[in-house]
Amino acid sequence: MPVPLLQRRLIFVTGKGGVGKSTVAEALALRAARSGLRTVIADLNADGHAHELEHEANLFRISVDPQHAMEEYLSLKVGGAAGQLLGHSRLFSAFAMATPGMRELLSLGKIWELAQTDRRTPQASPYDLTIVDAPASGHGAALLRTPRTFAEIARVGPIARQAAAIAQTLSDRDFTAIVGVAIPEELAVGETLELHEALQRERLELDAVILNCCHPDRFEPPEVETLTALDGGPYTSVRLALGADQRARMEREQAARLERRFGERLQRLPYLFEPELDDAALGRLAAELRL
Ligand SMILES: Nc1ncnc2c1ncn2[C@@H]1O[C@H](COP(=O)(O)OP(=O)(O)OP(=O)(O)O)[C@@H](O)[C@H]1O
Ligand SMILES: [Mg+2]
Repeated sequence: MPVPLLQRRLIFVTGKGGVGKSTVAEALALRAARSGLRTVIADLNADGHAHELEHEANLFRISVDPQHAMEEYLSLKVGGAAGQLLGHSRLFSAFAMATPGMRELLSLGKIWELAQTDRRTPQASPYDLTIVDAPASGHGAALLRTPRTFAEIARVGPIARQAAAIAQTLSDRDFTAIVGVAIPEELAVGETLELHEALQRERLELDAVILNCCHPDRFEPPEVETLTALDGGPYTSVRLALGADQRARMEREQAARLERRFGERLQRLPYLFEPELDDAALGRLAAELRL
């Protein structure tokens, strides 16, 4: 049996753009924080939508920036004036950032550090759980692949060692979980299935798939029959009701595609009819999660 999500130290949340990655990351974080875990949301999308949740005890938020991660890494690892000099050198920085995958590796290095029980940053208190609001599927999978690529290419030296340690952590399912988010629409579901395959090629697994924004099933089959019989008449409400039913049917088909692949790992979150998801709405989603 895999370790329950909230007993791990690191959770990546990814999925198609706009499907609710940040929302799910926040709902997970809320549940974790309310269960007493000191939780940090590490946001990799600097310009992403962000809820405040600032009054929540145990809940912290960090925006991970590769440039800043590099400066921090250099000052801690190289140390002293040399580290500072390199960290602030525009030429060095330009070289480092131009290395393919370096930004991802630096960001992951920071995330890895957040998830450790002994933080390398002096005086930093450890978190119990780090939840990563990761980039959309394709970039998310590339991000998770980066450390292994670096470890294989560099082979020796400090970068290879660090990358190998990160790769090892990411593939340790007692430590790290990967959560996919989808909505019940064809493209989002297709992207989730592709993400799953891309991760499996890296010997990584989706531990949970959250099907977000599910609309309720409103009508039983006999009711649909009655409505269909009335269709074409002067009732706008009949039209709307049949439209809602059609949508529900389409959603069921898409959910079934995911269910076939993920079985018990699939869970649904309802679409909330609210102009904006406030803390209370987020709390409702959080309470629905099966963790
Ligand atoms: N279950 C839900 N019910 C209603 N609205 C929702 C639900 N989940 C998310 N939303 C809304 O959908 C929008 C997109 O959600 P969110 O920002 O979490 O997606 P995202 O995947 O992080 O997007 P991006 O790819 O841009 O980072 C937001 O306005 C959010 O409030
Ligand atoms: Mg987002």
